[in-house]
Amino acid sequence: MPTKKLTASVQAKLLRAAQKTMKNAHAPYSKFRVGAAVLLSNGKIFSGCNVENASYGMTNCAERTAIFAAVAQLGPKIEIRAVTVVNDHGVPCSPCGACRQVIYEFGPDAMIYFQGANGPKQSHIKELLPEGFRIR
Ligand code: THU
Repeated sequence: MPTKKLTASVQAKLLRAAQKTMKNAHAPYSKFRVGAAVLLSNGKIFSGCNVENASYGMTNCAERTAIFAAVAQLGPKIEIRAVTVVNDHGVPCSPCGACRQVIYEFGPDAMIYFQGANGPKQSHIKELLPEGFRIR
């Protein structure tokens, strides 16, 4: 199914959710707060922030926090339609490789809204993760 474009008001709602949850980030090491909001095909929105750890590799990105919250609440049959990512430095920030793979698992047709090198950008997950891995 082709991705339906989000209305401006839904886009704004996602952005607000990501910005609000970004404030809860635990980022004492990088000092780089990130917020993410995912829109599901049932219309529900879940948000998350990055949660760092003194053992740096255990950090969970905002995108995965949001997706895992959605799965924890609704179960594994969720379908992600869109993801919005923001950060408190106002710098380019697209989902990392690990998050792209997790987005793809639940949203192979998802659109990702983020700050690109030349300003706000939207990319399909398949652009960000060509030939993504899935087991059906
Ligand atoms: N981070 C995210 O939460 N999402 C991204 O898309 C990029 C990076 C976090 C991980 C870490 O806590 C901090 O940003 C610096 O890498």
